[in-house]
Amino acid sequence: MRCRYTDGSELIWIFMDLPLHIIILAAGDGTRMKSRQPKVLHIIAGRPLIVHVLDTALSLGAQGIHVVFNPESREVREACAAWDVEWAEQAQRLGTGHAVMQAMPGIPVESSVMVLYGDTPLVPAAVLSELTAGAGQALGFVSMNLEDPSGYGRVIRDPDGRVTGIVEEGETSAEQKAIREVNSGILLAGADKLSRWLKSLGNDNSQGECYLTDIFALAHSQGVEISSVFAPDASLLAGVNDRIQLAALDSRFRQIAAAALMAEGVQIADPERVDIRGQVEAGSDVRIDINVILEGRNRLGDGVSIGPGCVLKDCSLAAGTRVHPYSVLEGVRTHGECDVGPFARLRPGTSLGAGSRVGNFVEVKNTILGEGSKASHLSYLGDSEIGKNVNIGAGTITCNYDGVNKYKTVIGDGAFIGSDSQLVAPVTVGEDANIGAGTTLTKDAPAGKLTISRAKQVTVPGWKRPKKRD
Ligand code: UD1
Ligand code: CA
Repeated sequence: MRCRYTDGSELIWIFMDLPLHIIILAAGDGTRMKSRQPKVLHIIAGRPLIVHVLDTALSLGAQGIHVVFNPESREVREACAAWDVEWAEQAQRLGTGHAVMQAMPGIPVESSVMVLYGDTPLVPAAVLSELTAGAGQALGFVSMNLEDPSGYGRVIRDPDGRVTGIVEEGETSAEQKAIREVNSGILLAGADKLSRWLKSLGNDNSQGECYLTDIFALAHSQGVEISSVFAPDASLLAGVNDRIQLAALDSRFRQIAAAALMAEGVQIADPERVDIRGQVEAGSDVRIDINVILEGRNRLGDGVSIGPGCVLKDCSLAAGTRVHPYSVLEGVRTHGECDVGPFARLRPGTSLGAGSRVGNFVEVKNTILGEGSKASHLSYLGDSEIGKNVNIGAGTITCNYDGVNKYKTVIGDGAFIGSDSQLVAPVTVGEDANIGAGTTLTKDAPAGKLTISRAKQVTVPGWKRPKKRD
């Protein structure tokens, strides 16, 4: 089988003999999170831990993904509803070996099985491909070195360096405690052998649990050679057990995402203060200031600049777009050099032409703003089609909603909308029309003419300011 995945900018091909099935263990209680929420639903980089793992699993081109979950945590299934996965219930937490066993009935005998943890979100795909590259072997796993190995399963090797077993913390001798090479938890095994090993596991240990890691000594005793992949950066294989680790991994994720963008030539003011929660495609000389959040899929053309405090979600910004401080953009497309903000809110369906400008305290939704058109201050533009070189005066509001339905406003090229006007949709303003300041437009305004609806201004003769009574 041939699988493909992308890891940063790399594209690597893996060759495997057997179809790959991935088991994700996600039934753990996560008591140290001190949360009502299942552990794997805690968020890093804007997405639940388990979703990161699902993404990695998918990128390996697995034939099947099997998630072992606690049936009391229905939310886990709901959160992953969009993913094509098989669910295996583990009603009681009887250990990692027992957890894997629950998923085995859904896995064909003729396959390779990889085990991942739902609470370990940053595992690099490159490490997993190295593991699958040696998939001809009956059993392989990923190990790492830790300064402080306590709590982890220690890797036991014979004098020739061959792995003979993995010993859990509670079962280690004083000598074994000093071993710094530990089990990451990730393993790969042939399904048929794995099933057989699992069946002979016991729980006669300090925790009374069925340890998955006992299969290593078993395999070794049967003369099976155990392959291991050494992960150079242990911080990426760290799992989340408490909120401190959650924050640490979130920060690590930010560093990785920022470093990847900087490697592509993006100027980031402070890599610790940009939060990339998804994919970013960036041209050359893009600049991102501090405290920017990029969610979903964003495309930033050459020379785009994003000011401090901006939030962008699913936007495609053309070369030269300048987003000024504290603007919030979602589902926006720009089509040339243009300016947004400061303090602009652009909602889905906003399309900005070249040379256009949306200024401070302007909200735009489902609206096309044509080339060279400007809405510089304090406006709401919704469900509108605005032509070229239109000037939208301060305080203009398109009244697009009657409480039940939404209606469209159309404004022709070159129109001038005076300040503080309300355009009650459905309504059309013709080309080069002028709308007088303070107009409430309820009927179409003809092209090239001044339309105004305003009470006549009067000055009241003899009027006096009221005086305070004694
Ligand atoms: C496990 C490994 C250990 C390894 C460490 C790496 C075993 C026995 N030990 O220890 O060698 O160094 O991970 O982090 O495998 N889970 C279930 N059902 C259960 C028990 C656990 O789904 O009944 C899930 C947890 O949600 C978690 C994963 O399995 O995602 C690991 O379980 P955990 O209890 O954290 O194992 P460790 O003691 O950390
Ligand atoms: Ca753990």
